[in-house]
Amino acid sequence: MRPAPGPGASARGVGGAAARENDSAREPLRCRAPAVATVQVEDDKVRVTRWDFEPGAETGFHRHGWLYVVVPVHDGTLHIEFPDGTHTKAELKAGVAYARPAGVEHNVVNGGPAPLSFVETEVKAWPG
Ligand code: NI
Repeated sequence: MRPAPGPGASARGVGGAAARENDSAREPLRCRAPAVATVQVEDDKVRVTRWDFEPGAETGFHRHGWLYVVVPVHDGTLHIEFPDGTHTKAELKAGVAYARPAGVEHNVVNGGPAPLSFVETEVKAWPG
């Protein structure tokens, strides 16, 4: 009877298979973890989504089709990237809301060392 492969051999086999799947041309290259979006409310007028970011996690590039209001759950720092390659920093204060018009395009990254969350309300009544 052959001895079972050690944990090192087993881990290399699993990791190799996963790496080959990630090389698929159909998957975009992603170097950061994705933020987790949880839709809390959605009807014909609004969509309310909670976003949870580990440090360094990102939403991915997106365009806002509706006016939106963000209420941070935590204090924190967002690193925001724009399609033209520029970027900016935004300081979030827990409980202090801000609004942006429809048409904004960006990728939002947790630029701080701690997990970060905000609640985003999109107003479908005002499309962009
Ligand atoms: Ni956004």
